[in-house]
Amino acid sequence: MARSSIHGQWSSRWVFILAATGSAVGLGNIWRFPYLTGENGGAAFVLLYLGCIAAVGVPLLMAEIMLGRRGRQSPIHSFESLAQDESLSRNWRWLGAMGVVAGFMILSFYSVVAGWSLAYVFYTGSGMFADITVEGAGERFNAMIGSAETLLAWHTVFMVMTAIIVGRGVQSGLEQAVKYLMPALFILLIAMVGYAMGTGDFGAAISYLFHPDFSKLTNKTVLEALGQAFFSLSLGMGAILTYGSYLSDNTSIPHTSVIIALADTAVALLAGLAVFPIVFAYGLEPSSGPGLVFVSLTLAFAHMPFGQVFGCLFFILLTVAAWTSAISLLEPATAWLVERLKWRRRHAVIWTGTIAWVMGIGSLLSFNHWDSVKFFGKNFFDSMEFISTSVMLPVGGLLIAVFAGWRMSRASSSDELRMQSTLGYSVWRVLTRYVAPAGVVLVFLNALGIL
Ligand code: PFF
Repeated sequence: MARSSIHGQWSSRWVFILAATGSAVGLGNIWRFPYLTGENGGAAFVLLYLGCIAAVGVPLLMAEIMLGRRGRQSPIHSFESLAQDESLSRNWRWLGAMGVVAGFMILSFYSVVAGWSLAYVFYTGSGMFADITVEGAGERFNAMIGSAETLLAWHTVFMVMTAIIVGRGVQSGLEQAVKYLMPALFILLIAMVGYAMGTGDFGAAISYLFHPDFSKLTNKTVLEALGQAFFSLSLGMGAILTYGSYLSDNTSIPHTSVIIALADTAVALLAGLAVFPIVFAYGLEPSSGPGLVFVSLTLAFAHMPFGQVFGCLFFILLTVAAWTSAISLLEPATAWLVERLKWRRRHAVIWTGTIAWVMGIGSLLSFNHWDSVKFFGKNFFDSMEFISTSVMLPVGGLLIAVFAGWRMSRASSSDELRMQSTLGYSVWRVLTRYVAPAGVVLVFLNALGIL
């Protein structure tokens, strides 16, 4: 029943790894991971996060790629076809549809934060941060998010950039963006860690990140660690499934999944090691929220030699990392429209991009005109972030695990995963059938206060 994708294929296994890593590595690693770690008290959160990546993230990464390659379509149609293959209900397609909705919700706030990064390319590059004080760095950030016009301008630029690449299609668009820029980001991040090691309070950062104090754990911490694992690996909404649908038949899914997860985790930890020494050296508040990375790194760049150049370069690369992730957030819905309505890609992406852009306006207004509009105590931005990341991604992941582990036949999954060792396959199956679903359910019960 081998299918082929109407959208084309990655030109090599290496390109797939770069594209999937490009999707995984983004604001989630460099902006969200440090600020969540700070809000949740440090090492205990980090440890839970790492546990979630290993026990739930990796098996689900394999499951999503496997489902994508077997379905060879956007998530909605892939689930529909795969369910048909296994004589299951067509309703599984709603799982794909939930992913599309989650993708729009994530992209709406993601593009706003990517816009901050774009703005910082120009702020740092212009030299406006030279010798800035701690207060000055905080004030500059607040002035930016306080201006709806500024945020709207950058959000718009970023969304157009994303739509252009998705409109150009998988090969000519996505591949080119990731080939050189991802390795460059990695190298610059290592240089930043070197700088933080030399000038910041590295000891305090290491102890904060790696010596857990379990008394700091709350129910919310556990849920946020799980949500962050999904978010960071781009799991639970079909983004990786969609990328898997462009993967050639002879690529090993387990190997590539492990490489992607390792690269993603390494970038998150490096970001923590670059940010926290500065946070402690300057007496910043680790729990200060979404502005943490912008304020702390601004201070580092303000005082390092050639900081203007490094700062500008860093925010360019962060924007690129966000770009390659945003592309994967927009791709599933766009591919679906192309399949379903036979539209041209460019036509489809105008619609999907516009929907995400309009939703993003709600997010950017939450920092200024709408800052007192609250839903259950959270503003629009926080609500979007919480519902999509901490609720929809884990629920999506749970259902994907149920589909791949329980509803799909053993023959189908082992045929598609083609693992060399039967032990490896059995480990994957146990993790997917039992550990991943049980983990998600336990975390939800815990968050609801039932456990
Ligand atoms: N993984 C991306 C990051 O860490 O920035 C965000 C993301 C991309 C989440 C794609 C979900 C997704 F489907």
